[in-house]
Amino acid sequence: MRFALIGAGRIGAVHARSVAASPDVELALVADPVDGAAERLASAYGAAATTDVADVFADDTVDAVIVGSPTPYHVDQIVAAVDAGKAVLVEKPVDLDLARADWCLAQVGGRADRVMLGFNRRFDAAFAEVRSRVAAGEIGDVEQLTIISRDPAPPPVAYLASSGGIFRDMAIHDLDMARFFLGDIVNVHAVPQRLDPALAEVDDYDAAVVTLTAASGAVATIINSRHNAAGYDQRLEAFGPRGALRVENHTATSVVLDAAGVSGARGPHLDFFLERYADAYTRELAAFVAAVREGTAPTPSLLDGRQALALADAATQSARTGLSVAPAPIPASAAV
Ligand SMILES: NC(=O)c1ccc[n+]([C@@H]2O[C@H](COP(=O)([O-])OP(=O)(O)OC[C@H]3O[C@@H](n4cnc5c(N)ncnc54)[C@H](O)[C@@H]3O)[C@@H](O)[C@H]2O)c1
Repeated sequence: MRFALIGAGRIGAVHARSVAASPDVELALVADPVDGAAERLASAYGAAATTDVADVFADDTVDAVIVGSPTPYHVDQIVAAVDAGKAVLVEKPVDLDLARADWCLAQVGGRADRVMLGFNRRFDAAFAEVRSRVAAGEIGDVEQLTIISRDPAPPPVAYLASSGGIFRDMAIHDLDMARFFLGDIVNVHAVPQRLDPALAEVDDYDAAVVTLTAASGAVATIINSRHNAAGYDQRLEAFGPRGALRVENHTATSVVLDAAGVSGARGPHLDFFLERYADAYTRELAAFVAAVREGTAPTPSLLDGRQALALADAATQSARTGLSVAPAPIPASAAV
């Protein structure tokens, strides 16, 4: 299987490494319009490089495309790749505009099973284990899901200005995890916090608590912050009638220090997403490769990407109005 990678930035480098480490697949081509960017990444893996993204779609020897470009380009690149007969793994979010995500679904139509969304947290070994133990009935039907997701430090305000806001940019991973565990969500209530007043400039928040009510009646609570003095904070608990399954933060070592003035010290959390989810990105790629080889629909799907974005939109609206908001239904034109 020959891969092309679109976008040679932070996440592009992660995917290039995963492809190179994956058996029987090859990174054939890297595309990035910024001079030298594709070349730098491609040369590390013996791949060809281009500054013209259209070369990816025109190359008949490319079977699969990873879209790791900035979010506003995702939709057009998904559609062009699917039209060219390629399977696609696209980074989250699908777009910042739900109407564009719906347009993408409509364009892709019956070929939606050729597209996988890069919600990598579903592939984290610990979260996936909780999910499968829940499915096996170990704690009974989940009643409450708690997700804590805090970044170590906020990105620059200039990044936030075009990020789509905390719910579309950051919480979207957690909103997808809530769907992964609880299925359809019918109601969203967000309580935003603006701890840094500079964020008023970009009409964004740097923390929020979001509650989601699932069609089943289960409730998820998502706790987000753009900063955390203790580092990257990624925890999850599923609670049911027969107990709870919990994932704590990962640390570089499992050795614990007890000494004068300290007990149970485990060393710092893993730095950030590149470290915490390194294995998840590899497992995500393996799932994509397996689906393409078997001709099965990959999960999470393009529709999962659309639904997470609808939840992010609902959370944004709830944060602004103080009201609970139902996520926008899928329009008939986008139904797959
Ligand atoms: N799943 C995750 O954990 C995760 C983590 C980080 C970023 N992301 C997503 O990945 C995408 C890229 O983020 P990033 O942090 O790698 O950004 P980045 O800025 O580091 O890299 C983006 C790259 O895309 C290139 N580019 C710009 N315009 C392009 C175009 N029209 N076509 C192709 N390439 C283009 C840029 O030159 C740059 O090299 C975003 O959608 C982001 O939300 C996902």
